[in-house]
Amino acid sequence: DNQPLQAIRSAFLDFTDDPFYTAESDSVRYISDGLLIVENGIITDFGEYNTLRSQYAHIPITTYPDRLIMPGFIDTHVHYSQYEMIAAYGEQLLEWLSKYVFPTERKFKDKAHAEKIATLFFDELIKQGTTTALVFATVHPESVDAFFEEASRRNLRMISGKVLMDRNAPDYITDTPETAYEDSKKLIQKWHKNGRLLYAVTPRFAPTSTPEQLHTVAKLLQEFPDIYLQTHISENKKEVAWVAELFPESQGYLDVYDRAGLVGEKSIFAHGIHLTDAEFERLSNAKSAIAFCPTSNLFLGSGLFKLTQAKSSQHPVKVGFGTDVGAGTSFSILHTAHEAYKVAQLQGESLSAFKALYLATLGGAKALSLEDKIGNFNPGKEADFIVLDPKATTLMATRNQSFPAQSLEELAQPLFGLMMLGDDRAIQAVYIAGKLAHSLAAI
Ligand code: GUN
Ligand code: ZN
Repeated sequence: DNQPLQAIRSAFLDFTDDPFYTAESDSVRYISDGLLIVENGIITDFGEYNTLRSQYAHIPITTYPDRLIMPGFIDTHVHYSQYEMIAAYGEQLLEWLSKYVFPTERKFKDKAHAEKIATLFFDELIKQGTTTALVFATVHPESVDAFFEEASRRNLRMISGKVLMDRNAPDYITDTPETAYEDSKKLIQKWHKNGRLLYAVTPRFAPTSTPEQLHTVAKLLQEFPDIYLQTHISENKKEVAWVAELFPESQGYLDVYDRAGLVGEKSIFAHGIHLTDAEFERLSNAKSAIAFCPTSNLFLGSGLFKLTQAKSSQHPVKVGFGTDVGAGTSFSILHTAHEAYKVAQLQGESLSAFKALYLATLGGAKALSLEDKIGNFNPGKEADFIVLDPKATTLMATRNQSFPAQSLEELAQPLFGLMMLGDDRAIQAVYIAGKLAHSLAAI
């Protein structure tokens, strides 16, 4: 359905380049009084209000005074099926999977259950300001259908796929190389590029796939060259040791995936806490991406992600934020940025709000090879954006008295306050493809 031209006026923050490599003055775009023009869900113009006002004098303007508009947040790693078992007590990765995850995921054989959780999941994602995510479903094709049907109803740009696992898990949640291949193929044909939806082949992680199953994954990637590959890597020390036992011929964890032909430009690996220097270098050369999931890495006691090494100039690796719920403890990308700051602090480094919010937007888009479609306000991009309130609570309003900011320099402090103190209360409104999808009640 056709939408008339829309104009939104506020302060705007986005990124035109990567602040890890380009000075903030040349990579961060802050317009303290800007105008965003949207037509049929696509951004058609963006700039200073004073420059554009006369050109768009004929259309009504929606104004958000004392707010900050950013591109929608991007979550590059999350499990929708684990919504109901977030905050499961007491275990690290492998025990946590057996004790909590597998029994929870079993329920997604029931399509009605999958539909119920998918609805809750998208409600939560949107109210947290996340408009695109790379998502694990479960081993059941029903879980993928339920997910994409709901994403489609909401016109969200989403990526997901059926989990593949044919060993080292209970029978009730495993497939075989053959069913994994056939089911994935049908789902790819049904969902990949269906509207805004995209498909990711999803072997859970090396320990739960036989070499034969990994081979079928490679076959799918060859047959459908523009689909994604998502999996986990080097999250936990016991896991890394187990992979060495299971694949004695491999030179390391990444090499298991590499030998199978799974390491490429559209491969996204979650965690990578215990990667070696050589593995970082290989990911850089292959143009693969890592999903950095700080709330999960701290919750499961997995370790501290080496963001500085991943973002080195010599061997740069694409990085996005992942919440990794249910190991992650929040759906909020602001919370995720907050925890990423602390992970950097523990390594003697500082993560600026600009860098963190780059990872949350354009960095995530690049990690997902979607920078031509989402991630900033360049004309031609899809109009997924969020209205933030840096003074959403009494505490935030007191901390962030210097907002609204007139310049990039003035913005740094209140933006950091927003990142450290913000949550869904600071997400005032969310637009998906130009349509208002969520709005907090006026106080
Ligand atoms: N490794 C294999 N499966 C999982 C999972 O569901 N969550 C996390 N955090 N790590 C995994
Ligand atoms: Zn995960």
